Amino acid sequence: MLGGTRITYLGHATFRITTAGDEQIIIDPFLADNPQTPDELKQVGELDTILVTHGHFDHIADAVPLAQQTGATVVANFEICNWLGTKGVENTFPLNKGGTGQVGGVKITAVNAHHASSITEEDGTVIYAGEPCGFILEFESGFKLYHAGDTSIFGDMRLIGELYGPDLALLPIGDRLVMSPFEAAHAARLLGVRHAVPIHYGTFPFLPGTPEEFKKQAQSIAPDLIVHVMKPGEELSS
Ligand code: NI
Ligand code: MN
Repeated sequence: MLGGTRITYLGHATFRITTAGDEQIIIDPFLADNPQTPDELKQVGELDTILVTHGHFDHIADAVPLAQQTGATVVANFEICNWLGTKGVENTFPLNKGGTGQVGGVKITAVNAHHASSITEEDGTVIYAGEPCGFILEFESGFKLYHAGDTSIFGDMRLIGELYGPDLALLPIGDRLVMSPFEAAHAARLLGVRHAVPIHYGTFPFLPGTPEEFKKQAQSIAPDLIVHVMKPGEELSS
């Protein structure tokens, strides 16, 4: 299914992807202060592309230092790209919902997400960060990955399935701040996706959803779904 793409879970909503062409991508960089990220994976080395779904700290915390260290291109909405520019990040690729862009060997589409988005500066100032999004990544092999970002379920996940047909969905299941396992199972059904990885749970006390509950819900709601529960540091490569 993955066509040579390697996907490593770094905990919470953070993933590291190595493409078949050896490009290095990170989605929602939250590493230094991420309690789930194994210490040996907090240093990421070379990076080509950084994707940011929205402005909350648990998705953007390491974007500025990583972009500065690596020169990677940051893909995010218009407002976040502007904010990154004020922090000295030079290579940004603004992408709003509905837009598709070719970044290296990967075709990236920003899709809807129902959530909030703001950036809190160190002095406590809250900055408007535009609308949150999810991303569809289409790799050279044709493999398609959907990172849902932080979101509730919404009916147009069916449309995302129809238009983009992802092979694998990374779905938040933590409940309270994002989808519950029940909603995430219905999300998988609407997307028509065959494979899913539950994410964004257990990191903080207010994300009580569990992968066991997600699997249980999926058995009746999306019976054909194959659930891959990944431990932080684990890699999916076939
Ligand atoms: Ni969030
Ligand atoms: Mn979050």
